[in-house]
Amino acid sequence: GTTLKAAAERSGRYFGAAMGGDRLSDQGFLTIANREFDMMTAVNEMKPDATEPNRGQFDFRAGDAIYNWATQHGMRVRGHTLAWHAQQPRFWGSLSGSALRTAMIDHINGVMAHYRGKLYAWDVVNEAFAENGSRRGSNLQSTGNDWIEVAFRTARAADPSVKLCYNDYNIENWTYAKTQGVYAMIRDFKSRGVPVDCVGLQTHFTGGSSLPGNFQTTLSSFAALGVDVALTEADVTNASATQYAGLTQACVSVPRCVGITTWGIRDSDSWRGSENPLLFDRNSNPKAAYTSVLNAL
Ligand code: XIL
Repeated sequence: GTTLKAAAERSGRYFGAAMGGDRLSDQGFLTIANREFDMMTAVNEMKPDATEPNRGQFDFRAGDAIYNWATQHGMRVRGHTLAWHAQQPRFWGSLSGSALRTAMIDHINGVMAHYRGKLYAWDVVNEAFAENGSRRGSNLQSTGNDWIEVAFRTARAADPSVKLCYNDYNIENWTYAKTQGVYAMIRDFKSRGVPVDCVGLQTHFTGGSSLPGNFQTTLSSFAALGVDVALTEADVTNASATQYAGLTQACVSVPRCVGITTWGIRDSDSWRGSENPLLFDRNSNPKAAYTSVLNAL
């Protein structure tokens, strides 16, 4: 039979997963990862707190372990993430204003220098918007509204070869205020030449609600601005086969939707506890949602 990656590759797309460093010794995980996936994201190991625990003291061991395993098995790697309100280095907590801004820039330069030329994409900025469509309050936002474009300009200069993504959740529904807020920022960035190449839609679907019927509209609207789009952290409450088929169809219907990543492989890998939101069960068996995704690719 076919696999997720083979089916995705038929249309020039990838099918990715996220893994933590602890999965590098988990044969069950590695077997499925190697068989089904051709893109990998580190769950925590390339986040700011992991890569720069102390100022100017970078630690790439955990990120590199994932990078090395993935690339040795023919996968590409998405970098996640450089600037975020959460999982920050502790020392950022005692900085503000221009000192914090400088720390962010130094962080982007330090991490991107290490991975220069090696990654498919970076989630340069993660989750910078609030649900009402305005900027989320954070220490980074308090350094000035231009922190996001400074992050992207810094990133482009640090590694011109990697795609630079803005990544967020709850931006799948086109009529939702947060979606419109992110869309307006990307439109503004493209009109002013701020370097942004892609928008990552995390695609954490919750509850019994149906997939937003306008998800495809959201993807094609972002794409029309001249960016790639990707589903970067997909998981669905109880792995509804219908919703997984719908999100897959939305992506494959949009030429610039480059790939889908699920946030883990088996339910036992998920950050969403008992929601069983992934494509494989705790015994490594494919679930109904797996077949629905495969059929929709
Ligand atoms: C989550 C990880 O899965 C957890 O292990 C960690 O404790 C918290 O972060 N959006 C993101 C991801 O961009 O980085 C988050 O990952 C899930 C939500």
